[in-house]
Amino acid sequence: MKQVSITRRARFNAAHKLWNEEWDEAKNFEVFGKCAHPNWHGHNYEVHVTVRGIIDEATGYFINFTDLKAIINEYVEEPLDHRNLNMDVPWLKGKQTSVENLVIGIWEQIEPIIATHGCTLERIRLYETENNYADYSGES
Ligand code: NI
Repeated sequence: MKQVSITRRARFNAAHKLWNEEWDEAKNFEVFGKCAHPNWHGHNYEVHVTVRGIIDEATGYFINFTDLKAIINEYVEEPLDHRNLNMDVPWLKGKQTSVENLVIGIWEQIEPIIATHGCTLERIRLYETENNYADYSGES
């Protein structure tokens, strides 16, 4: 059985701030730099969702790109686009809104849904900027 991976890309824009309440202002700025700006800042995020499965001979694919698009829209773009990641996203409450935590959170949102489509979530790549991104492939 040949397995293939497919990837769907989506984009969202969101605001955030990196800040640790346990530290004073000076330490926050020392550690987080301009990401600690008190009045927030935004990023144009880009997420790449890679799914792996066995091709169904009748269709030639294992998940319809339209279904994958709909999942990403419902669980990633709708809850995150034009939001404040620190304040508006329940699954980020109490966590730093770093690209690392965000990519894990997105994985946890969509992995169970992808599994119901008979395929496997292989990797999520999340770009915070053009040059900086995080990859997550689940726990292993
Ligand atoms: Ni930032």
